[in-house]
Amino acid sequence: MPGTCVIGLQWGDEAKGKLVDLLTSQFEIVVRYQGGANAGHTVVIGDQTYKLHHIPSGILNPGVINVVGTGVVANPATLLKEIDSLLQRGIQIQGNLLLSDRAHIVFPWHIAEDRAMDSSTADGENIGTTHRGIGPCYGDKVGRSHAIRLGDLYRPDFRQKIERVITIKQELLAGVDWSLPNDLDPQTIHAEFSGYAERLRPYVCDTTSYLLDAVEAQRKILFEGAQGSLLDVDHGTYPFVTSSNSSGLGVAAGSGVPGRWITKVIGVAKAYTTRVGGGPFPTELSDATGQRIRELGKEYGTTTGRPRRCGWFDAVAVRYTARLSGIDTISLMMMDVLSHLPEVKICTSYEINGERVNRFPSHVDDLRAAQPVYETMPGWQQDVSKARRRAELPDGARRYLDRIAELVGRPIEFVSVGPDRDQTILD
Ligand code: GDP
Ligand code: IMO
Ligand code: MG
Repeated sequence: MPGTCVIGLQWGDEAKGKLVDLLTSQFEIVVRYQGGANAGHTVVIGDQTYKLHHIPSGILNPGVINVVGTGVVANPATLLKEIDSLLQRGIQIQGNLLLSDRAHIVFPWHIAEDRAMDSSTADGENIGTTHRGIGPCYGDKVGRSHAIRLGDLYRPDFRQKIERVITIKQELLAGVDWSLPNDLDPQTIHAEFSGYAERLRPYVCDTTSYLLDAVEAQRKILFEGAQGSLLDVDHGTYPFVTSSNSSGLGVAAGSGVPGRWITKVIGVAKAYTTRVGGGPFPTELSDATGQRIRELGKEYGTTTGRPRRCGWFDAVAVRYTARLSGIDTISLMMMDVLSHLPEVKICTSYEINGERVNRFPSHVDDLRAAQPVYETMPGWQQDVSKARRRAELPDGARRYLDRIAELVGRPIEFVSVGPDRDQTILD
């Protein structure tokens, strides 16, 4: 049976890109199926670092087909920049990249709306989006009447569609500070996006049918999640989430491949926790230890460069997302970062309004009130970045892994001890 998924179990940036790149040699097709340019997936191969936003992290393995599926919201300018930068670095794209004609297009008005809406939320705390137009584009997709898909760019009525949408957007967004070079002139936007469409033409197709043919032919497919399960629009820390189903639940809807073809789900988690943007984060460390983790882990956003908030591993949250995303095994990343700390902590439950709670709360206010209950373990204080077998890890590190597996309720299959492909423990 063909489908394996790599899904983030925390608030994104769990190092999914590294794992996908590592696993790709075992697959024929790699698929991104949700999110868009809000994602930033880093792959390090020797002295080369690649940062991918739309294109699957499988693209660096020659001979593998990389699909940007139906559920993705694509920014054509960013996508073309990605393609160009990969081409410049000698990566084969033609014949290896397919873009869904059903994927929705992010337009300049989406980015402007995103900026305007993110300036305040109902409770006064910003979501802190990536300002990539993701929420407004998904909003228009669901709203249907003002949405434009990639396939629409090739139709004779594209010009009329643009004019109609811009007229309405200008009325709706009167007074919004666009802060964008683009003046929303229909003729300019039509010309600009027609240019993108021409350049993207060789890659555009019906990826849903392509993937259905592929699974029926038993071809091996790797699905690459973007964001993380706690950012899932339905089951995450709403409203401090992204606008797609970024848990394992989104794979089928976003790709068009029914769940019955998915036989394995790997959940990716850091050995600690990070979050970018607003929203509750019970194990956040606002002290020197948090700062130390940020510096040791180089925890600055791949897409926006924002410093990531850092904290201890939250086993309540990851136990929840492991179940939600239906994972079989865990890939635990960034173990090298914790090596330098005298002690490490794992959150095993919360105390909410004086009550001990093991369940991840459904309401953001309860999560805000949650006080982490910690188990403290001695740090191993030994460089692990050269370990290639679990037996080579210090006892303290192995105990930490065992305890996480026990608390989350799933085995740890991979351990990452550095950004490079090689810095991975597979046994
Ligand atoms: P993604 O969005 O889930 O693909 O993750 P990002 O690429 O945004 O962030 C993960 C960062 O950690 C990247 O800079 C990776 O190169 C780096 N990385 C991956 N695995 C490890 C690891 O085991 N140790 C360290 N120190 N860095 C890692
Ligand atoms: P990858 O795929 C980390 C966060 C934003 C913000 C919230 C909503 O690299 O793991 P959005 O722009 O999606 O409307 O922002 O979600 N966010 C991410 N955080 N990694 C990501 O992607 C993220 N994509 C979005 O910081 O809090
Ligand atoms: Mg990232």
